[in-house]
Amino acid sequence: MVDRHEDILAAEHEIYYPPPEVVEKAYIKDYDAVREKALADIEAFWAERAQELDWFEPWEKVLDDSNAPFYKWFVGAKTNIVHNALDRHINTWRKNKIALIWEGEPGDQRSYSYYRLWQEVNKFANVLRSLGVKKGDTVTIYMGRVPELPIAMLATAKIGAIHSVVYGGFSEQALADRIHDAQSRVLITADGAWLRGKTVNLKDIADEAVHRSPVVEHMVVVKRTGQQVNMEQGRDYWYHELMSLPIASPHCETEVMDAEDPLFILYTSGTTGKPKGVLHTHGGYQVYTSTTLKWVFDIKDDDRWWCAADPGWITGHSYIVYAPLILGATSFMYEGAPNYPYPDRWWRMVEKYGITILYTAPTAIRGLMRFGDAWPKRHDLSSLRLLGSVGEPINPEAWRWYYRVIGKEKCPIMDTWWQTETGGFMITPVPSYPLKPGSATKPFPGIDAEIVDEEGDPVKPNEDGYLVIKKPWPGMARTVWGDPDRYVKQYWERYKEKGYYLTGDSARKDEDGYFWIIGRIDDVIKVSGYRLGTAEIESALVSHPAVAEAAVIGIPDELKGNVIWAYVILKQGVEGSDKLVDELKQHVRHETGPITVPAKIFFVDSLPKTRSGKIMRRVLKARALGKDVGDTSTLAD
Ligand code: WT7
Repeated sequence: MVDRHEDILAAEHEIYYPPPEVVEKAYIKDYDAVREKALADIEAFWAERAQELDWFEPWEKVLDDSNAPFYKWFVGAKTNIVHNALDRHINTWRKNKIALIWEGEPGDQRSYSYYRLWQEVNKFANVLRSLGVKKGDTVTIYMGRVPELPIAMLATAKIGAIHSVVYGGFSEQALADRIHDAQSRVLITADGAWLRGKTVNLKDIADEAVHRSPVVEHMVVVKRTGQQVNMEQGRDYWYHELMSLPIASPHCETEVMDAEDPLFILYTSGTTGKPKGVLHTHGGYQVYTSTTLKWVFDIKDDDRWWCAADPGWITGHSYIVYAPLILGATSFMYEGAPNYPYPDRWWRMVEKYGITILYTAPTAIRGLMRFGDAWPKRHDLSSLRLLGSVGEPINPEAWRWYYRVIGKEKCPIMDTWWQTETGGFMITPVPSYPLKPGSATKPFPGIDAEIVDEEGDPVKPNEDGYLVIKKPWPGMARTVWGDPDRYVKQYWERYKEKGYYLTGDSARKDEDGYFWIIGRIDDVIKVSGYRLGTAEIESALVSHPAVAEAAVIGIPDELKGNVIWAYVILKQGVEGSDKLVDELKQHVRHETGPITVPAKIFFVDSLPKTRSGKIMRRVLKARALGKDVGDTSTLAD
């Protein structure tokens, strides 16, 4: 069993100083001073950062807090993030620089210069326009990790429409719910995706989702695997066929957007069953993501940046697609599984493409660590100069392995704490800053983070509390799509008087002011870095005819961070059996996708509840871990 508090105590005094050559190269040499200066005047700080980008028209006001918590940034400015990510590079030497290098799981390769990517985006933007997509419409995108995914996102944003990318590992119901919530009339998908040498039938899943959410009028299908798919006449079109029509001209006017116009919706789990559509906008998001990437990973023109996340998550939106392109960087993207066909697939590609910065998740690091040191040692990893981690707390053991075996003790590890809602890195080191394994170190400049008690007062060093953000920042989510009340309730109600943003994480600060994230305080469970809501999995279980009631909890796991255990009350007359366990797992896989499948399912007669009927998952968890169940005075039975 893994215990975060024990990890923290063990690593609290273990300090790693950056090598001199890293410090010399770093944009930010005195992180503490830059942070202090930024916090003294956040508006001046962000205005200065925003000057590095192009704006069609300047802002009248940096921050408008008159309708808090609905903050507005760069009020009155006109822009389009795609202008900064692509258009502006075409008139510079970067025109022929490589923007994206891609490798498919079967080993096929492609690369796009800034000019070629710009052309592809323009062509597809024209295709979307010809399908009737207009400014303010939503477009849902559901596919694997192929270049057409970023192309579709950028094309959507270029014409002022709003993309909603649904991760390719989600089930038909999850996709249907998201299409319905966003009311997308166009869905962009693929015939299939490669994963571990097999193909996933994305088009079949998309067909079923559209059957359940019939708002979709057109589907554009990228041919990736070549498998047989059903194409409905008049509704479905092949991407490559549309792209070869005269309407797909390589020139396309970029829509002029207000800084606060919506850029994308990204669904994420919260405390209630329905996933939230987190909304980000053009202006603040472009400033925030590009500044954070530039300073935290010291992006230089000769870098080859590899963010190994999926573009379908916020990490991919911000740090595969938008920020690297805004900075004019070269990015690498890989389609498949890290251990396919062998556990050295990643290290082979680091060597082959000369990757200089690798950014991944603790669960991937632990997974690769399990195969031993021999696999990475076979490859020349000397191109690497920085490493990164995101998604969940990294345990010091995995941190040390990553540092020693992958980074050869010369690559500082940027452990970046942030969320879908924050748009970009919030608590993170920069390359010149001393590190402690397992700590995300300090808040980024302009970010006023604190750890507080129930009343909102700061707790003492080494005490656990709630992580809050005290001042707004440009990359913050603007609302929950179609449900502004939920936005207020979820993030701002808890510390309403003080105006703090509630992150939903618990954390502590040590005596040196280093932040240590502990974990979620709400009904969200992190499995392999994926954020899952207990309510979604419980409702999937309850939708099975044999189940009366269900509760799920997260149990610490060496590899995945957490795994799910489910407690199920069966309907009268139904007998629990191993066969039923398998059937329920299958059912959950079908309803909400493979990541949400419980590792264990227990049949029980009752669940611990409060008198008002709320399931006390805390009690289930304490019992499962053999711990003291704590205060149960509110327990009904
Ligand atoms: C939650 C947000 C932001 C990109 C991926 C996840 C956890 C994220 C760290 C980290 C400890 C972390 C938090 C957070 N988390 N990064 N470096 N150290 N915990 O985005 O799916 O919105 O999840 O992930 O619990 O609240 P997300």
